[in-house]
Amino acid sequence: METVVSGIRSTGKLHLGNYYGAVQNFVRMQQEYNCFFFIADYHSLTTHPTPDNLHGNVKQVLVEYLAAGLDPEKATLYIQSEVPEVAELYLFLNMNAYLGELERSTSFKDKVRSQPENVNAGLLTYPVLMAADILIYKATKVPVGKDQEQHLEMARTFGNRFNRLYQNDYFPEPYAFSYAKQLVKIPGLDGKGKMGKSEGEANAVYLADDVETIRKKVMRAVTDSGPSQANQEKPEVIQNLFDLMKVVSSPDTYTHFDELYNNCQIRYGDFKKQLAEDMILATAPIRERIQEIESDTAYLKKVAQLGTEKARASAARTIKEVREIIGFRSL
Ligand code: TYM
Repeated sequence: METVVSGIRSTGKLHLGNYYGAVQNFVRMQQEYNCFFFIADYHSLTTHPTPDNLHGNVKQVLVEYLAAGLDPEKATLYIQSEVPEVAELYLFLNMNAYLGELERSTSFKDKVRSQPENVNAGLLTYPVLMAADILIYKATKVPVGKDQEQHLEMARTFGNRFNRLYQNDYFPEPYAFSYAKQLVKIPGLDGKGKMGKSEGEANAVYLADDVETIRKKVMRAVTDSGPSQANQEKPEVIQNLFDLMKVVSSPDTYTHFDELYNNCQIRYGDFKKQLAEDMILATAPIRERIQEIESDTAYLKKVAQLGTEKARASAARTIKEVREIIGFRSL
């Protein structure tokens, strides 16, 4: 059976982008594959969280994984830092990851632009740690959103380079995966691109948002002055809202508003009201379960323990073999 790995950074609550880009695939894949899903808390250190925030966010993501339907009996659910073997593989892979290729990564260049005051080495080698997360379980499928595609390419590069260096077909090639025809990119509400945690509060709708907050955020979403010609192309701000509707609403609802737009009869107020209600409906079961699960500390602890044991057993096997291949042998 093929092995699947994926993770989400513990930098706060999960938003609809995380859900539709990644977690929805996790829920389905756990039925079919040998899955490892984790909370990327090592990765979150690039943003320098306080100890309390780090701890709180790890718990939040675990709760939301479970609320979204991940089953700890089917998939291995674990916290990245509980499997320190991954840090060792990261060290080994770093020896063959080159400055030029790391600097060329789009996500690194974005960070250099957006936070010039904190361009740390962890950001530069972020794709190497991500490759270690994947290669340590010899995974071949990695459910992620569109923004992670380049990181997957780098993971293949690092794995293949290791194989060549040691003339050993040790690591298989991992590929980004989605049940949708293409990798998903969920837009934000501010009309400027993807939904993300670092794009400001108004841009993202969180799974844990209450109903009123969702309504407020959607009603405030940026629009334009409306179409003036039949069948005109939608500008990005409007296209983004239609893309969101495609994800949360029924095909009939989508077609209805698409036709109104094309006839220049659309009223954005009605359109956004419908979008908000459909978002609320689509996320209702998750929202309810978040509240149930977050108070059950004993259960969360049990889940994390079970996951750590399963993940470590597998990761330790890989590290033992990798050490042997590299030449760390007992005298
Ligand atoms: P992160 O925490 O930024 O995002 C987690 C997952 O959510 C997806 N995602 C989106 N998908 C569609 N539209 C959006 N607007 C959107 N925003 C986020 C991301 O593509 C991702 O799948 N580097 C990873 C975490 C990670 C990882 C790994 C993933 C660390 N190690 C190993 C896979 C395998 C990250 O920062 O994701």
